[in-house]
Amino acid sequence: MSKLACLGGKPVTENILGGARLTSRPDLERKYLLQAYDSGDWDDWPGNTKSMAARFEKEWADFNKSKFCALVTNGTHALQVALETLDIGAGDEVIVPGLTWQATASAVCDVNAVPVLVDVQADTLCIDPKKVEEAITPRTRAIAPVHLYHRMADMDALMRIAKKHELHVVEDSAHMHGSQWDGRGAGTLGDFGAYSFQRSKLMTGGEGGAILTQDEDSYWKIVSQRSCGREYKEGVKVHSGNYRMTSFQAAVLRGQLSAHRKNAPRIDRNGLALDRAVADAPGVEPLRRNKHITRQCGYAFVFCYDKKSYDGLDANAFRRALSAELGVGFGSTYAPLTHSDVYYPHTKKRHALSKSYVKAITPSRWKLPVADELFYDRAVLTSWHFLACPPRRAHLLTDAIAKIYENRAELLKASADAAG
Ligand SMILES: Cc1ncc(COP(=O)(O)O)c(C=O)c1O
Repeated sequence: MSKLACLGGKPVTENILGGARLTSRPDLERKYLLQAYDSGDWDDWPGNTKSMAARFEKEWADFNKSKFCALVTNGTHALQVALETLDIGAGDEVIVPGLTWQATASAVCDVNAVPVLVDVQADTLCIDPKKVEEAITPRTRAIAPVHLYHRMADMDALMRIAKKHELHVVEDSAHMHGSQWDGRGAGTLGDFGAYSFQRSKLMTGGEGGAILTQDEDSYWKIVSQRSCGREYKEGVKVHSGNYRMTSFQAAVLRGQLSAHRKNAPRIDRNGLALDRAVADAPGVEPLRRNKHITRQCGYAFVFCYDKKSYDGLDANAFRRALSAELGVGFGSTYAPLTHSDVYYPHTKKRHALSKSYVKAITPSRWKLPVADELFYDRAVLTSWHFLACPPRRAHLLTDAIAKIYENRAELLKASADAAG
């Protein structure tokens, strides 16, 4: 039995990626940037179909098989503008998963509505449709499922619930560039799909966001809403602010999309091989993949750890040991929103509308046992760059997990010694 790398032994591999990288096209990014600069069309002005922004809008819509796409400043604003376009605001509730980046819930507070935090499924990390149905009240106006990390949320179940209760659906697709449900792009199944192009995402323009919709009138409403409420139809006025993206960001994104066309099928294939590698290893499980997911790209690669199988070994000790064996860092999920250190809307003066509103948006009022267990004890996560790992090297993941399993007694002892 060879000694664990985190205890001074030789790792299974110096780096599981073995130099593999996903495609990038900096040459195209530069070319489009200069074109945008030389054109003088630096913004995304309504009605200008020639700007770099308008061209990326068309390409991003086509890539996702969406009828319409409107670019906005970032993913948070994409959610906010979508909610405002649905006329969601004071007195309304929006159902949001409790395990997500804070933006999904913050955007709801930013339109003065109440985010209702619902627990997730232990085997997908996405919002649990059964719990969504239980959380519906007469004030509920929308569900905002998040396609989180390495799985799409169960859109069939969620759309059925939305239809039954006449609710809107805003898909937070910030993690899902290139994923498909029955061949349809993530973000095209609900009323709106919100994307982020922030720097850590699978595609980035430094910052940026996009909203997909299948309805022409909704598209023009979004265009108006992102542009200070300029009249989009004779006599129709909406109050709003400026949420427009620049054509420079869109230029970089056109280059990024060109690369992602190649990367998306590769990420899906590699992810499946890595899931199989996890399935072959002791005491761990891959996430469940819904049969409707026809292409899975995601912001992270995740699997679940079973502490009992490792005689109670702390998940953090497992994550550290795995990182040392594979030369790639593994951690956990976002902290659930009930105790996230970037989500405390009840402390902000802007939200101090009434005592009852502040109470309603106080995150600690919710209980999220599944999300908590995932965060502390079960989820083992690494960034999407890991998905460059080719299928022929995926067995190294099985080998590393098996090695930790065989050495669990030694690791338990080392952890106990370190704890004093
Ligand atoms: C799930 C999710 N939703 C929304 C956002 C917000 O996107 P942005 O950072 O572009 O505002 C993020 C960004 O990190 C995210 O991870």
